[in-house]
Amino acid sequence: VVASGHNAKTLNIGMLGHGFMGRVHSHAYATIPHIFPDLTCAPRLNTVSGMQQDQPEQFARQFGYERWTNDWRAVVDDPEIDIIDVCLPEYLHEEVCLAALEARKHVFCEKPLALSAASARGLVIKAAETPVKAMCGFNYRFLPAVRLARELIYQGVLGALYLIRASYCQESGHDPDRPAEQVRYAYGKTQLGSIRGLGSHLIDMARFMGGDASSVTGLMRTFVGARKMSDGQSYQVKADDMATLQVEFNSGAIGILTATAVATGRKNQLSLEVNGSKGSLSYDLETPNHLQVYLDDATHPELRGFSNVNVTERPHPLMKYWWPPAHNLGWEHGHINELKHFLDCVSADQSIGPYGATFEDGLRAAEWAEQAWISSRDGRRISLAGG
Ligand SMILES: NC(=O)c1ccc[n+]([C@@H]2O[C@H](COP(=O)([O-])OP(=O)(O)OC[C@H]3O[C@@H](n4cnc5c(N)ncnc54)[C@H](O)[C@@H]3O)[C@@H](O)[C@H]2O)c1
Repeated sequence: VVASGHNAKTLNIGMLGHGFMGRVHSHAYATIPHIFPDLTCAPRLNTVSGMQQDQPEQFARQFGYERWTNDWRAVVDDPEIDIIDVCLPEYLHEEVCLAALEARKHVFCEKPLALSAASARGLVIKAAETPVKAMCGFNYRFLPAVRLARELIYQGVLGALYLIRASYCQESGHDPDRPAEQVRYAYGKTQLGSIRGLGSHLIDMARFMGGDASSVTGLMRTFVGARKMSDGQSYQVKADDMATLQVEFNSGAIGILTATAVATGRKNQLSLEVNGSKGSLSYDLETPNHLQVYLDDATHPELRGFSNVNVTERPHPLMKYWWPPAHNLGWEHGHINELKHFLDCVSADQSIGPYGATFEDGLRAAEWAEQAWISSRDGRRISLAGG
């Protein structure tokens, strides 16, 4: 008997933005049906939208989108579209997400959810009153080693948590001679600084491991303030290029977080160490398949030490359908796993959290960043919502 066809529900994707993230997400949607036999829907790359100068037509042809446009509103208002995937510059997120929710589309929005906590709060309220799925793009939650770290913490393997140290380090701002237009966190309509750009990922990672916190103390700096534009004109950087946060988790643990764009030599280093009463773990995105784990094991005290676990075995989280052990995954697989989760939530009406980042998670990241900034400005510790 030769069987043909399938009954999976088609979900029409409207991709807004086709730069870095639009490309990563489009690649993920195209890959997901090839990897996951349990997928409960059929994602269809229906329409892509982007600025004319960025050539959405060429992108549509490359990825197999059926249609393209320069007008994101046309995609949001199109009754054929089920999912709006927001890969646009950060200043557009609030307006676009509100319009998409108003049109009753499922929404996936890249981080940071919004530019301010007030804007993010508005999106949380709108999402709560709309019968759709809304997810925020904190992709690092979907790397197997990161997920295993969280499972070990939640299973109590590390005991009571004492300290969560995390940092997100890049070097994009370290060179004072780099023209201002090329320094993304410090130029243009959205000057995120390191605290809202890298920092939103960092805060989410800390919360994913340690939960909410009652207070934050921030210290921020702009080390490279004086730049030149390509035409030689002076440009004064206002955004921070270094943000440190000290947080008190509700569990009692302390968090030390650093987000910086002036970590000379660091291209994209996200690292985490958690110390508890019975063990510790350590993760570094530069070796993304590995989790270092120390267990205070009394059975063989002479063998105590950090073990280097390659988190690519079948029983490991998120590894069920990927390659055989030690046929390693990379950064992109976090995005693929993340969007698979989103599609499942939409098609099978499942909850985005606790593994996927909800709009509330996006709001928390915005709140911590904002309060850390105020703390740094005023030189005082600040209470956090959720504490
Ligand atoms: N999760 C991650 O790993 C990660 C990494 C990088 C960026 N991001 C986030 O993803 C989002 C997008 O960043 P990016 O690096 O892909 O940006 P990008 O500059 O590479 O691409 C932006 C896209 O938006 C389009 N665009 C811009 N203005 C528009 C408008 N008014 N109407 C329609 N289209 C418009 C552009 O044509 C382009 O296709 C940002 O929120 C960013 O912070 C996330």
